[in-house]
Amino acid sequence: MKGKITGLSGPTVSVDSKGLKLYERVFVGHAMLTGEVVRIEEHRALVQVYEDTRGLAVGEPVHATGSPLTATVGPGLLSAIFDGLQRPLQQLRDETGPFILHGQNLHAFRSAEKWRFHPLKKKGDDVSPGDVIGDVREGTFTHHISSAFSGRLAWICDEYLVPNEPVAALEDGTRIPWMQDWPVRIPRPYKKKLPPSRPLVTGQRCIDFLFPIIRGGTAILPGGFGTGKTILEQSIAKYAEADIVVYVGCGERGNEMAELIEEFELMKDPWTHRKLMERTILVVNTSNMPVAAREASIYTAATIAEYFRDMGYDVLLLADSISRWAEALREISSSLEELPGEEGYPTYLASRLSSFMERAGIVETQSGMIGSVTMVLSVSPPGGDLTEPVTQSCLRSSGAFLMLDTSLAHRRHFPAINWLQSYSLYGGETLSHYRESMSPEWENLQRQCREILLREESLREVAEIVGPEGLQDMDRLLMHVAEKIRLEFLCQNAYGDDAFSQPERTFAAISEILMCYERDAEKLMQGAALDELLT
Ligand SMILES: Nc1ncnc2c1ncn2[C@@H]1O[C@H](COP(=O)(O)OP(=O)(O)OP(=O)(O)O)[C@@H](O)[C@H]1O
Ligand SMILES: [Mg+2]
Repeated sequence: MKGKITGLSGPTVSVDSKGLKLYERVFVGHAMLTGEVVRIEEHRALVQVYEDTRGLAVGEPVHATGSPLTATVGPGLLSAIFDGLQRPLQQLRDETGPFILHGQNLHAFRSAEKWRFHPLKKKGDDVSPGDVIGDVREGTFTHHISSAFSGRLAWICDEYLVPNEPVAALEDGTRIPWMQDWPVRIPRPYKKKLPPSRPLVTGQRCIDFLFPIIRGGTAILPGGFGTGKTILEQSIAKYAEADIVVYVGCGERGNEMAELIEEFELMKDPWTHRKLMERTILVVNTSNMPVAAREASIYTAATIAEYFRDMGYDVLLLADSISRWAEALREISSSLEELPGEEGYPTYLASRLSSFMERAGIVETQSGMIGSVTMVLSVSPPGGDLTEPVTQSCLRSSGAFLMLDTSLAHRRHFPAINWLQSYSLYGGETLSHYRESMSPEWENLQRQCREILLREESLREVAEIVGPEGLQDMDRLLMHVAEKIRLEFLCQNAYGDDAFSQPERTFAAISEILMCYERDAEKLMQGAALDELLT
């Protein structure tokens, strides 16, 4: 179907075409810019164009595709770097240079690349949606290719394939593709959601020990300007114990992403010792790229994450930052002249955010495997004001709230996670895992550590009035230990050897500090001089 542009206002284009569907993907103008139908009225439709609309004119054609915005999922995804519309950026650079030109509708995968398909079913077998019919190896990973249809297999391939070829066919003639185009805004189906129970080890002591993240859970990292959100997100991406990491650079600086890519190319996964990039997919929509595609980028990333989840992998989805996504949503909403809600954000901000965050979870997949998507999203509240709508909306749907504190960042205490205001609702579920896999003492040490940090806070107020010498010796010893916990345990330099701390190392570090404290407290009670103990 074809229509014509009847009006233009920034990235919003009105089209005279009837018969368009809501959220249908269209190609706009002679340049074939990708757009999505976002509103339909009686005589016109409004299209949100995901690229720079400069140079478009009234009267240019609009081509409808009949299908919504999709992401292609299948072998070839690993190590890829996409933009928000899943265009392969490395390939774009090779073909058209470092700047993305208008209307570059490259397919996500190189169409000539061949993959070996190993069938697990044979001719005559019955299959139903979600059944695994064969495997394709990509590096160390195995893609389990499943059928989207039910019926009896008429044939199944046992050789090398290129992306667009079908992998099998049913007796009724239905061809089964092995690459799927999945509508990014629709969550991929699963059998059932399961209650999360295993922690996702991040390698960050403060998170793993005090505010654990769980596989299938959601965590948010809100923090003002320069509090270390990006560095923490990147550290988690590097060291987390996940099978697959999908990292979305959403509206943040381009050079940060460039550095990340360089680093990831060189680094090794500390768990498997394979190249980090081999388990990573990057979705890049930095601040210098079209704002509207940023809105789509997190959905593209979620679809890719769910694809790996459906094959039984533990996937970690990181986005830096979700506030920039919300700003893109606000921009789109205001160009559509929708009624604004709080701080100009659309009234549906909270529901959009929570339905996105609902895509995290641990599930039994349609083929009976267990897979998970864990989300860690950074939030950049303007002026560090956590009462603003994006932080508040994220807060409602997240299970771990890791508040990054400006004053800690000023003191160069990194990661600047405020230990008094942050929380994790996953503490209880993860405890039994650590108790069994690490030590029955885990819980006890955790409680002691929290108590010391809390008591330090109240003692500090007293010390401000009476001076540190006015405190009792036992309290001064506690202040000393609390400082040790803060500086030697909670602080973790992202640039040195300490950047990654395995649970064993985390446990050893905190038990040593607390054992030392117990010993000193006993000596103090037996009459030892405090100054001698503190030296
Ligand atoms: N774990 C860390 N170890 C050492 N330095 C750190 C760490 N975390 C943050 N920093 C320092 O803080 C600086 C700012 O960090 P970062 O860019 O991650 O902040 P941000 O919150 O993402 O900022 P913005 O709001 O501008 O996006 C870094 O350049 C680095 O010097
Ligand atoms: Mg940042």
